[in-house]
Amino acid sequence: MTASVVTVESEEDAAAWDDRASVLACLHETPPRIPAWYGYDAVGADIWVELSRLPSYYLLQAEFDLLERHADEIADRVGPYVTELGSGSAAKTRLLLGACQRRRPTTYLPIDVTREMLERSAASLPAELDGLVVEGLWGRYEAALAHLREHRPGPLTVVWLGSAVGNTTTAERAALLDDVAATLEPRDRFLVTADLVKPGDVLEAAYNDPPGATAQARFRLNQLAHFNRTFDGDAVPHLFYPRARWDPETSTVVGHLFATEDQRVTFRGLEHALDLRRGDSLVHGYSVKFGRPEFVAEADAAGFDLDREYIDPVWQYGLFLFERR
Ligand SMILES: C[S@@+](CC[C@H](N)C(=O)[O-])C[C@H]1O[C@@H](n2cnc3c(N)ncnc32)[C@H](O)[C@@H]1O
Repeated sequence: MTASVVTVESEEDAAAWDDRASVLACLHETPPRIPAWYGYDAVGADIWVELSRLPSYYLLQAEFDLLERHADEIADRVGPYVTELGSGSAAKTRLLLGACQRRRPTTYLPIDVTREMLERSAASLPAELDGLVVEGLWGRYEAALAHLREHRPGPLTVVWLGSAVGNTTTAERAALLDDVAATLEPRDRFLVTADLVKPGDVLEAAYNDPPGATAQARFRLNQLAHFNRTFDGDAVPHLFYPRARWDPETSTVVGHLFATEDQRVTFRGLEHALDLRRGDSLVHGYSVKFGRPEFVAEADAAGFDLDREYIDPVWQYGLFLFERR
């Protein structure tokens, strides 16, 4: 058998996607926040692929170009087991996996909360990439990394693409980097992309729909609808206006859903209500943009040495290969 998907959380946890306490903690932030991973039900995962192809969303092309150019060199430096946090469609990872499989039999362990995406990867990649073994891990990052610690397959590389490392608060990111480090052994590799700081107008154009497109807005409103379904909420998507804003103070593109009128939103499954005034924000996600030295320092603090780095001179997008100390 060359492909399978295993569940790394209890069916109940995977269905709820989160414990109530951490969701409530997000709703108690100022402004309240809906965790970003609720964007990725089966509908949202497909819309995300669509929005990532908008020409203004430079991250996809920048990352694709870097991987295309450097996959062979990276494949020379990694081992036979490759896991990926938030693999999605694995469209770009294929470049690396192909280079790995040409060198040695490789096992790919994609991690995602969207089961459909894992099933698609498991169905297509073995035939496409010459017998690559695929074992999908369905669940959140933390549960999948804990699973890998218990069932270490062998020399392991963790891949984290899409600059998704920036879709975190500082505390969440430090905890996740520590978690990745705890899952790896000395000399294992960690391949991660990070979008670097650039002018605010470029960033805001990337995270808002250009004229004629709707994918960004549909993605954000689907996240709200999914959150509603999960926690029996009554938020009305068309009473929110999605808009991403660059905050230079925190070096973060903040994704807002602005209330278009005064309203009370109740999430019965959480026994929690939000009273929003017109113009109030419900945050749906963060995209932190990094300074290169600060990013390398964050990885260093978690126990990683920089092995190789590749930075796109046009978009200032970085592909970093770290080695576990
Ligand atoms: C921005 S997309 C990136 C997809 C792909 N890596 C790429 O670069 O094209 C983020 C992916 O991570 C998954 N994801 C987000 N948060 C997650 C979490 N906490 N645990 C597991 N998967 C998560 C989503 O389902 C989605 O497929």
